[in-house]
Amino acid sequence: MVLTAGCIIEPMREADIPEVQAVEREVFLTPWPRNAYHRELASNHAARYLVLRRGEAILGYGGLWRVGEEAHVTTIGVRRQEQGRGYGSVLFAALLSSAYELGARWVTLEVRASNDVAIRLYERFGFKVMGRRRGYYSDDGEDAIVMWSDSLHAPAFKARFRRLLATLTVVGTGDPPSMEYPVR
Ligand SMILES: CC(C)(COP(=O)(O)OP(=O)(O)OC[C@H]1O[C@@H](n2cnc3c(N)ncnc32)[C@H](O)[C@@H]1OP(=O)(O)O)[C@@H](O)C(=O)NCCC(=O)NCCS
Repeated sequence: MVLTAGCIIEPMREADIPEVQAVEREVFLTPWPRNAYHRELASNHAARYLVLRRGEAILGYGGLWRVGEEAHVTTIGVRRQEQGRGYGSVLFAALLSSAYELGARWVTLEVRASNDVAIRLYERFGFKVMGRRRGYYSDDGEDAIVMWSDSLHAPAFKARFRRLLATLTVVGTGDPPSMEYPVR
């Protein structure tokens, strides 16, 4: 059960960036360069960045880019003390909804090979491990696992996503994709 009282998913705004960076420093070994979020919000029209807010506080954030028919999840993080309560699932669902809205056909991401929690989360949404990039993370040389969704139009993938969405009650997570093909 996600603790949803007062929670909402919203597009990330300029004013959110300092708090997003504070969350990022808490959960990532190597945060993005200082200006990266400003640049993304100002000029990357193929990108979507979201925050999960409870009251005034940002509990987590995530982003993706659309590249051709693919959407690449670029980042997702939840405050350390708020992890394990379903917020990561809420954010990931919202990113998937964004991928549908952007007209992507597949979603892909890289994740540290040791990041079991994140890998399990993505697997719950039907993502599969499709490859490994050796020494991908330059800070410590860890391998990346490359994961892909099935086609976002595949009935089984959509049905699974709809079931998961139905368990999440945070405002702004997105509407379930239509089961009609190829309507999103
Ligand atoms: C990966 C990450 C975003 C997941 O966020 P999260 O909020 O912890 O995710 P969830 O709570 O939705 O799911 C994580 C686990 O908590 C469990 N969980 C969810 N709600 C729960 C609850 N109310 N009580 C107990 N456990 C719960 C889930 O079942 C899941 O367990 P599992 O891994 O055994 O299946 C978060 O751990 C994080 O920020 N990590 C650091 C940054 C990172 O690694 N990002 C990913 C880069 S690819």
